[in-house]
Amino acid sequence: MKCVDDFRLKFGKTELVPIVIGGMGVDISSAELALEAARLGGIGHISDAMVPTVSDRRFNTDFVKEKAKLYKYNVANTDKSTVIFDLGRLAEATHMHVGQTMEAKRGDGLIFINCMEKLSMNAPRDTLRVRLSAALDAGIDGITLSAGLHLGSFALIEDHPRFRDAKLGIIVSSVRALQLFLRKNARLGRLPDYIVVEGPLAGGHLGFGLDWANYDLHAIVAEIVQYLRAEQLDIPLIAAGGIFTGSDAVSFIEIGAAAVQVATRFTVTHEAGLPDKVKQEYFRANEQDIEVNNISPTGYPMRMLKSSPAIGAGIRPNCEAYGYLLDGNGNCAYITAYNREVALHPNDKKVFVMDKTCLCTHMRNFDCWTCGHYTYRLKDTSRLQDDGSYRLLSAEHVFRDYQFSTDNRVALPA
Ligand SMILES: Cc1cc2nc3c(=O)[nH]c(=O)nc-3n(C[C@H](O)[C@H](O)[C@H](O)COP(=O)(O)O)c2cc1C
Repeated sequence: MKCVDDFRLKFGKTELVPIVIGGMGVDISSAELALEAARLGGIGHISDAMVPTVSDRRFNTDFVKEKAKLYKYNVANTDKSTVIFDLGRLAEATHMHVGQTMEAKRGDGLIFINCMEKLSMNAPRDTLRVRLSAALDAGIDGITLSAGLHLGSFALIEDHPRFRDAKLGIIVSSVRALQLFLRKNARLGRLPDYIVVEGPLAGGHLGFGLDWANYDLHAIVAEIVQYLRAEQLDIPLIAAGGIFTGSDAVSFIEIGAAAVQVATRFTVTHEAGLPDKVKQEYFRANEQDIEVNNISPTGYPMRMLKSSPAIGAGIRPNCEAYGYLLDGNGNCAYITAYNREVALHPNDKKVFVMDKTCLCTHMRNFDCWTCGHYTYRLKDTSRLQDDGSYRLLSAEHVFRDYQFSTDNRVALPA
């Protein structure tokens, strides 16, 4: 019986263990986690979601405080169109986060950054261009474009000196999305270096509707493998979403995937950025504790624990400090929902907003517990301790379990 280690992901002459730890927003896929993946010969991701906030936490900078101070006058104003990001400061934060991570890299693996198009930051094209270029400047090995179709993202960096040398990949959930991306970018003469095919069981935002359960990752991967062969496109395909054991991973490699991208099992490792208390919530979750809902202002369904404090919280929008989801005209679906509730309950001190959430604030505070479908199986990957908590795992332990396990087994920590 084969294990993942019997295979290698090839990028030209570079050979990697075919395990990618996926990007997990607002520093759940921390630099420490990505560095472990690279040290062990695979690929790790850091995330560029709310990078000024992440930099403040990592390096004691004041990017958020500065922005909040600058726009303090606007806090009570429902119009957020004037709240914009300083592009120079945004580049600086990205340089620090990426640069210091790359400096610390050891081993033969790679570190990529996950970049979400839906973080439109009140100036979609300009802020995306700055984030992509700054990551390339700071030496990132590759960029994974996610949460959006990214039809114009390659063009934003086509003049960058590293445009053809850095690895650039996209995440898609259907052959149609891939075809659209390839068609729109044909004139650049530069194909993606890899394609992550993410199925309906993944964590974070989903590329499916609330009918996600009708889709199957094996079927989507098979369809895209067939399409790439028919078009004679030799692009590594990386399968993602619900791959819980090494044997699950092998099943995708055997139908044509070059590697797998995994995330959920790493959320409960020491290196992941979630607070330890939240990691225990993930361990304890049962299947009925997890839902896919529409509360993300991005418009994409998102999977999370039903007990997430973000659900129903009616906090005042925090765009002066954050504002990552402002669409370019100062709008965000949460602001609309919040203002509606305030108008309906003018005398209430506290309002509850059930249909949308202030994703920036809640992701920043680790109060939106987004998770993969199989989070309820995490308890089977560790040991329950005398005090009722589960033992946190090391990223190395989980990585090696994916790499070497057979027979659908999951290795428990020693
Ligand atoms: C907690 C969590 C946060 C995530 N955040 C992001 C994100 O910010 N951007 C993104 O492209 N994917 C995100 N994902 C998706 C993962 O990168 C990955 O593709 C997927 O979850 C793999 O499936 P698995 O979790 O079942 O292993 C997230 C997943 C989890 C579990």
